[in-house]
Amino acid sequence: LRPVDAERPYVLLSCAVSVDGYIDDATGSRLVLSNAEDADRVDEVRATCDAILVGANTIRRDDPRLLVRSADRRARRLSHGRPASPLRVTVTGTGDLDPAARFFRTPGAGRLLYCTTTAEAPTRQRLGGLATVVGAGDPIDLRLLLADLAGRGVRRLLVEGGSAVHTWFLTLNVADELQLAVAPLFVGDSRAPRFVGDGVFGWTAEHRMALAETRPVGDIALLRYLLKR
Ligand SMILES: NC(=O)c1ccc[n+]([C@@H]2O[C@H](COP(=O)([O-])OP(=O)(O)OC[C@H]3O[C@@H](n4cnc5c(N)ncnc54)[C@H](OP(=O)(O)O)[C@@H]3O)[C@@H](O)[C@H]2O)c1
Repeated sequence: LRPVDAERPYVLLSCAVSVDGYIDDATGSRLVLSNAEDADRVDEVRATCDAILVGANTIRRDDPRLLVRSADRRARRLSHGRPASPLRVTVTGTGDLDPAARFFRTPGAGRLLYCTTTAEAPTRQRLGGLATVVGAGDPIDLRLLLADLAGRGVRRLLVEGGSAVHTWFLTLNVADELQLAVAPLFVGDSRAPRFVGDGVFGWTAEHRMALAETRPVGDIALLRYLLKR
């Protein structure tokens, strides 16, 4: 797959949802929506990407490593002259992230943090030893951020959530593909985060997304949509 235009990478959004559209529950502990087969599928997708982006709250709440787990896939990437795992990228308005988070501490991938220009100096002071800190506007300009990623050689970007980040990418119409993994369970609690929040989305009854693939992955249904612009 190639970038849609030279200004930005190909952007693939990936998310696991309950059948009632939630991406987590409202308890303090993380809800497991995925299954082993789907985790392996996502690992394969990660292995095809140059960078993985998550929002600051996902780091706070889930503390993900964002690595390619399979040794074979890491070796394949290395044999093609790529780093073993994609670049880890996050976005934060406040810069308020724990330096002990796995995002910063787990070896095996580079780290890049986009924040507001206002937050850039204090954030660099706190986290600059752990990640490359880039101010990207007040508020953050997503197109600038994507152009910056393209300039760093990112041709294929995987966006793994959470809700605010998916909403941002979709409402600004800068996503090319959506992979929704629908888990066979209900959350049934409106305090829990949904896949996206409120917003004006380009895909409506008059302009529907293109369903490119449906596939069972164990007990999960993978829905792959192409987001025509
Ligand atoms: N099921 C799944 O596949 C999946 C995947 C990932 C996450 N999740 C779940 O999603 C939930 C987190 O979602 P969320 O919506 O709360 O958080 P999120 O999207 O992970 O992160 C939101 C934060 O990112 C920063 N941010 C996002 N957009 C920004 C913008 N336009 N400008 C500046 N900063 C921006 C802000 O950080 P600051 O607060 O620092 O300003 C904001 O508070 C968690 O429950 C997690 O478990 C589920």
